[in-house]
Amino acid sequence: MRVLIIGGTGLISRGIVKHLLARGAEVTVFNRAQRENTLSGEVKRLTGDRNQFADFERQFAATRFDVVIDMIGFTPEQAASDVRAFRGRCEQFIFCSTVCTYGVKMPPQVLVDESFPQEPVSGYGRNKLACEQIFRRAHDERQFQVTIIRPSSTYGAGAPLIDNLEPDATAWDRIERGQPVLCAGDGLGLWQSTHRDDCGKFFAYAALNPRTYGQNYNATRDEVLTWRDYHRQAATALGKTAQLVFMPAAWIVQHDPQRFGLLHEITQFHGAYNSTKARRDVPEFVCEVDLTSGATETFADLRHRNAWRDSQADTLYQSMMDEALASGVAPVPA
Ligand SMILES: NC(=O)c1ccc[n+]([C@@H]2O[C@H](COP(=O)([O-])OP(=O)(O)OC[C@H]3O[C@@H](n4cnc5c(N)ncnc54)[C@H](OP(=O)(O)O)[C@@H]3O)[C@@H](O)[C@H]2O)c1
Repeated sequence: MRVLIIGGTGLISRGIVKHLLARGAEVTVFNRAQRENTLSGEVKRLTGDRNQFADFERQFAATRFDVVIDMIGFTPEQAASDVRAFRGRCEQFIFCSTVCTYGVKMPPQVLVDESFPQEPVSGYGRNKLACEQIFRRAHDERQFQVTIIRPSSTYGAGAPLIDNLEPDATAWDRIERGQPVLCAGDGLGLWQSTHRDDCGKFFAYAALNPRTYGQNYNATRDEVLTWRDYHRQAATALGKTAQLVFMPAAWIVQHDPQRFGLLHEITQFHGAYNSTKARRDVPEFVCEVDLTSGATETFADLRHRNAWRDSQADTLYQSMMDEALASGVAPVPA
């Protein structure tokens, strides 16, 4: 099986490459070669910028892959360029979308499955949905077989671990120092967190699997956490108990809407998805990394790369905490 990954050296991509190689696939990655090459020597590298559409399309004009996986498609223009580049030149095209295409509503049965209406509330979600529609049309026109995969929050070495408030959290350093951290609401919002090796496994085993042709999939670990669970399990990786101070999401966001945009757009809402369909069609998709083990690895990697975020200079966070505690809210162990 010959597979091309557009991207290939990023967070989820590295999980995909690992499992594709384990399957015995011949893997080629396409990127700008701006990142450290941590890929095994077996992986072929092609260099270029996918946004230089004419060059990008010309580069693949004489190639054929069994599977093309686009990990970094974010706009309809990029999706249209993919269709021009790969129509008739691959058996299957896998597009990495996102659960943000569903928006923020919760179904009566709580977990969002693939039949839930897609009503994205962010520009990111709207653009991903527009890309999905372009690929679905290409599938219907038999340009190639399309599989759309929607990860939710996915983490691992190479990226920070989000908390309830922000993508690159200072909360983990505060927890390590025995200081309380902020959490929105009562910490009872629902969340799922999937390690990139587990998410990558789904992509790798969906490849060239005819059951996945023409299908959309959520690709999440099935364990659903509250934010209390999330902080408890991640803090265990630091050998600590997280002390949570609960404040309304709007109160937190108003202190710095840009910094706390993740909370505003995503994490103040439930984010829990049903991936039964993915497990049915791709039985190899068994998630093996629990949050405490994955957080241990992610924290070690952050320190190794000198990317661990020190909380001591974070005066805004401390002033928010002082304000919350002064209002009479007491920390609660997660
Ligand atoms: N992580 C999550 O929680 C989450 C959740 C839902 C969906 N997703 C989706 O997951 C995908 C991200 O996957 P990932 O983590 O594997 O990727 P990533 O970390 O975003 O990696 C980016 C990759 O693309 C390459 N790249 C960036 N710009 C490029 C360009 N203009 N031309 C060619 N190559 C370029 C990078 O290498 P160079 O910089 O060297 O070019 C790198 O290989 C996105 O589609 C995102 O929407 C992620």
